[in-house]
Amino acid sequence: MSDSSTARPAASGAVPPDIRLVRSAGELTLLIDGVQAMQAWEHDLMCRSAELLCEQGGEFLEAGLGLGISARHIASLPNVRGHLVVEKYASVIELFRQANPVLPDNLRIVEADFFDHVDSLPDNSFDGIFFDPELPRETFEDRALLDAFVPRLLRVLRPGGRFVPMFAIAGEVPDAATCTTSPGAMVERYLRFFDRVVLERLPYRAYPDTRYTPARTGDAFVLCFQR
Ligand SMILES: C[S@@+](CC[C@H](N)C(=O)[O-])C[C@H]1O[C@@H](n2cnc3c(N)ncnc32)[C@H](O)[C@@H]1O
Repeated sequence: MSDSSTARPAASGAVPPDIRLVRSAGELTLLIDGVQAMQAWEHDLMCRSAELLCEQGGEFLEAGLGLGISARHIASLPNVRGHLVVEKYASVIELFRQANPVLPDNLRIVEADFFDHVDSLPDNSFDGIFFDPELPRETFEDRALLDAFVPRLLRVLRPGGRFVPMFAIAGEVPDAATCTTSPGAMVERYLRFFDRVVLERLPYRAYPDTRYTPARTGDAFVLCFQR
């Protein structure tokens, strides 16, 4: 069964972000308060990330729905028994459901802040986590914050479980790129919590107006960490 449920009410008085899907000339962008949170040119990178994550099958967890490209691909892969996506914003879920009225039985979407919701999940309950929430850059660069948060993720990951963050990009990554960085910085961020990492290079082609890549085309790197 697929559903979207509210795990906690929006804080009273909190101003909801301005969320819109912009379609033009075959391009698709999810804007959150004017930030390019996701663009559909990332399709192949999302799918390859999902494939590395789910190679062994099992139960999966994802932070951030976005356009739902990775979510749908994960749910479609062989031996994926269940996929739980935690998305903070109701309107992101609503837009996704409008575009995808029929969802696979193994895909469940919960409206919640991932950083709160993860603590409500049972120990050792997932074989892999896809971690691609759109957050301010400082959040990912705050080592103390990661040191406190990543162990909370590891609690729900089974031994041998995998962790795939947003892909890395070669070159001078612009400030508009919040959750991505160079492959070296990505390894530095996360490898200390894991035993091994698989790094795969894939070429990308962004849109002419993409603000979060160093160039229109270049190399991206999918990273799959494993315990
Ligand atoms: C880059 S998009 C995800 C793209 C997705 N992988 C795809 O294939 O379309 C990031 C998503 O994370 C969500 N997000 C940001 N902060 C979050 C949080 N704290 N908890 C859950 N979702 C969050 C955003 O609303 C956005 O939908």
